[in-house]
Amino acid sequence: MELMFDTGNISQIKTYANVFPFSGVTTNPSILKKEGKVNIWDHLREIRNIIGPEKSLHVQVTTDRSDEIIKEAYKIVQQLGKETYIKIPVTIEGLQAIQFLKTEDFHITATAIYTMAQGDYAILAGADYIAPYFNRMENINIDAKAVIRHFSHVIQAFHKETKIVAASFKNMGQVMSAFECGAHSATVDPSLLADSLKMPAIQGAIDRFKEDWESVYGKGASFL
Ligand code: E4P
Repeated sequence: MELMFDTGNISQIKTYANVFPFSGVTTNPSILKKEGKVNIWDHLREIRNIIGPEKSLHVQVTTDRSDEIIKEAYKIVQQLGKETYIKIPVTIEGLQAIQFLKTEDFHITATAIYTMAQGDYAILAGADYIAPYFNRMENINIDAKAVIRHFSHVIQAFHKETKIVAASFKNMGQVMSAFECGAHSATVDPSLLADSLKMPAIQGAIDRFKEDWESVYGKGASFL
């Protein structure tokens, strides 16, 4: 089970890097748009430095023709290191690029997955991760849970190494469902993770413990 941060925001990554046990950071062009017109290589290198070499960094290509996707993949690893995961949408052109890049030992995260067929092609092409879009599937009446269960089954039944990194979440219920359906990993906006710890019930329980303690040992008392 892995959690990743679906963000390109440096202060958010710094804030939550020591809070959540996360395994990596995923971005896409829409996520990076939120950072304005930054120097993109400096920005991504800073993210790499903050998260350190143990965590994975997934960077999406911005072109859609296979020859250009391949060139972008080379540029990304030249700028950020060979261990960077290249995110490539699963289209006819994308699959062509994925197959070629796997012969060159690139790490691939196949993305923009809405259907079982897209994910299966990417698994067969040897993608390291496949990223099914949970919320976006639900928005267009595709059963996201059934799609993830299908990938989980295929990976186990055919002994494939591909991992499922479920993506596109709008609430933690969706994240938990993805894990229950067999996703190895979920990439989530860190603010959504933080909100899940800010429930009034949790704070209520803590307030009650404090009140009980102080009622016996006095205001502000602790073990210190
Ligand atoms: C991550 O890999 C995806 O690109 C991302 O989760 C999509 O999220 P969205 O549906 O909120 O844009």
